[in-house]
This record gives sequence, C-alpha cells and structure tokens, in this order.
Amino acid sequence: MAALSLALHALASAIWVGGMFFAYVVLRPSVGPLETAERQALWQRVFSAFFPWVIGSIVALLASGYWLLFVTYGGFGGAGVHIHIMHLTGLLMFLLFFHLFFVPWKRYRRALAAADTADAGRWLGQIRMIIAINLGLGLFTIAIGASGRFWP
Ligand code: HEM
Repeated sequence: MAALSLALHALASAIWVGGMFFAYVVLRPSVGPLETAERQALWQRVFSAFFPWVIGSIVALLASGYWLLFVTYGGFGGAGVHIHIMHLTGLLMFLLFFHLFFVPWKRYRRALAAADTADAGRWLGQIRMIIAINLGLGLFTIAIGASGRFWP
C-alpha cells in the first residue's frame, strides 16, 4: 500500500507540475503572436481541459500523502523535516489553486462570455501570476519531497 501510494503521489505531482511547466514555459510564449480574442479563447480551452486533471491530482496527492504520513510513518512525529516542509508548501499550493479556480477562472469565463476582452485580460493576468507562483512552489516541493530521505 505504501508503494502504491508513493507511485500515485509521484504521478499526480508530475501531471500537475509538468502541466504548469508546459503551460507557463512553453505554451505562453508560443501563443504570444495570436490576436487577443483568439489567444484568450485558446487559453479557455486549454484550462478547461487542464483543470480537471489538476483537481484529480490534488485529490490523489492529499489521499496518498496523508496515507503515507499517518499510516506508513505513524503521524507527524514519525515524519522527517522534508515531509513537514512538503505538507506546508503542498497546502499552500492547494489553497492557491482553489482561489484561482473559484475567483479569476470563474470571472475570466464570465468576461469571455460577455466578449469583454479587457476584463478577460485582467483575470488571465491573475491566473498567470498564480500559476507562476504554484509552478515555483511545485518544483521546490518535488525537489524537497524526492530528495529529503537522503538528507543528513
Ligand atoms: C498534503 C500534502 C502532502 C503530504 C502530506 C505529502 C506527503 C508525502 C510523504 C509522506 C512522502 C514520502 C516521503 C519519504 O518517504 O521520504 C512524499 C513524497 C513525495 N511527495 Fe509529497 N506530500 C504532500 C504534497 C505534495 C505535493 C503538493 C507534491 C508536488 C507537487 C509532492 C511531491 C512529492 C514527491 C515528488 C515525493 C517523492 C516521491 C518519490 O519518492 O519518488 N507532495 N509526500
């Protein structure tokens, strides 16, 4: 069960953080030359396809992470410092994503439905900023979570 949880945990983090890396580092500069309305519609399709995977990854990370923490390691007392750091940065990432999902993402879709390109641009800017922060936190968390067991 521990091996299965860790496999699920690693896969979920690869899907979420890898997806953010692709969106931010590869796709964002590549869609720059598109006309504004076309670019905004593209991001709506991209995020509509990506966010269900993020939600699934969060559910998998929480379930597998707490299983490992409480069942495999016997709770916070038995867990190394890297697990405490991962727990904190992980919770921060989940909160940032849920803010993104329920505020800027909802308002972005509303602005696009009203063909308000300027307002959509403002909310897309917020989505971009939160993804940049979560990408940084995600890369950091993966490095900590994967290397911590070998720390001195
Ligand atoms: C509630 C939040 C979380 C909890 C309780 C948690 C818990 C754990 C635990 C107990 C381990 C095993 C560590 C060891 O045996 O040394 C682990 C490994 C790991 N975690 Fe987390 N985690 C959480 C969130 C996250 C997040 C958000 C990410 C990435 C975005 C992440 C990425 C990883 C990685 C990459 C590993 C190492 C997997 C491997 O060995 O290949 N974790 N986590």
